[in-house]
Amino acid sequence: MRGYAFGQHGFDAVGRDAFTTRLMGKRVTFARGSGWVRFFYEGDRFTRDRAMPRSVKHSLQDEGSVQTLAGDEHRNRKALFIDVLDASARIDLDRHVAEAWRKEWAAASGNRVSLLELAGRALTAGVCTWAGIPLSDRDLDRRASEFAGMIDGAGSFGPRNLRGRALRLRTEAWARQVLRDAPPETIAARVAGHRDADGQLLDERTAAVEFLNLLRPTVAIARFIVFAALALHLHPEWRSRVAEHEETRLAFAQEVRRTTPFFPVVGGTAARDMEWDGVRFTRGDWVILDLFATNRDPQLWTDPCTFAPARFMSSEPHHNALVPQGGGFYEDGHRCPGEPATVDLLASAVGRLATAEYTVPRQDFRVDLRRFPAQPEDGFVLIPA
Ligand code: HEM
Repeated sequence: MRGYAFGQHGFDAVGRDAFTTRLMGKRVTFARGSGWVRFFYEGDRFTRDRAMPRSVKHSLQDEGSVQTLAGDEHRNRKALFIDVLDASARIDLDRHVAEAWRKEWAAASGNRVSLLELAGRALTAGVCTWAGIPLSDRDLDRRASEFAGMIDGAGSFGPRNLRGRALRLRTEAWARQVLRDAPPETIAARVAGHRDADGQLLDERTAAVEFLNLLRPTVAIARFIVFAALALHLHPEWRSRVAEHEETRLAFAQEVRRTTPFFPVVGGTAARDMEWDGVRFTRGDWVILDLFATNRDPQLWTDPCTFAPARFMSSEPHHNALVPQGGGFYEDGHRCPGEPATVDLLASAVGRLATAEYTVPRQDFRVDLRRFPAQPEDGFVLIPA
């Protein structure tokens, strides 16, 4: 297995956007490109049943959570995420994270810190305050390290995955308690009070899982922030430009999302017999849509391996071309409802990094593309002034 580049090698070898191979003893079609993204996401052609290995599924897609639902059930549950992350809520979230970031940055002054950790703590503190459950310093230590461990374990097999799953059980117990005590009118209370399509309140466990589906991925934005810091370090000519112009910050954030190796693929199972791009599917066939390779598809991107934020300055990315957080639409598909918040939070962090004073000591910036999720070897160490 060649890690993130597995699909890329296959597409190059056959000279096409889809190839069929065997993975874990099963026949699977790998696909990339915006046509395949549309085919995969739109029109209810694929279900998520048996679409990912169990270990990954247990870490990322908890039973009964929004990722595993379809049809009206999915639409109703998805609306909860879209509502609590509306434009004004996103401004609030950004403000809380900025406040927490300032605190973490000041506390780290003069010390060597891992940006992955610092950003993870700021995001944990910010998102919990936003959700209506501010954390004490002791709780922040625990929650930040549990979320980081869960994210780190998500794509792996063996001990790292088992650790991620153990952490998940502990964090779920915490989330259940938090939702029981949620102050009224808070995001936490809205999750606890959500009613499914059948008018029933979510059971305690499902509500806790969905609540964590808001908190944990927000903390995962730390990984994009690390790759943004690396990009600013390697391309210092962008520093003053992103510091001065909001539009440039957004373009920079989009290019970081396009180039960061994070969620490599999503899997689906054919819901019926069908054909696309010369590939025939029988109901139940397994398909892996390669998000990583789509974000680097030479048919969609000029010089795909070059870091060039300017590509996003004149036009909005097509919704099925830039797909680090899935493709298709928010309401009617599984596209990540946290994507607009991710872009906002990342652009703000880019602005802060571009204007802050810090030194970057000698360290290993290499990124091992066989490790999921990937990161610079040392997590990006810096010393805030
Ligand atoms: C850190 C950056 C993030 C990345 C790389 C990411 C990536 C993804 C991906 C690849 C999917 C799956 C799409 C699919 O199944 O087809 C997804 C779904 C989802 N994400 Fe994110 N995400 C991020 C941030 C967020 C944030 C900030 C939130 C919430 C605050 C969030 C909540 C969700 C939820 C609830 C789903 C399930 C949606 C559904 O099944 O309809 N994510 N995300």
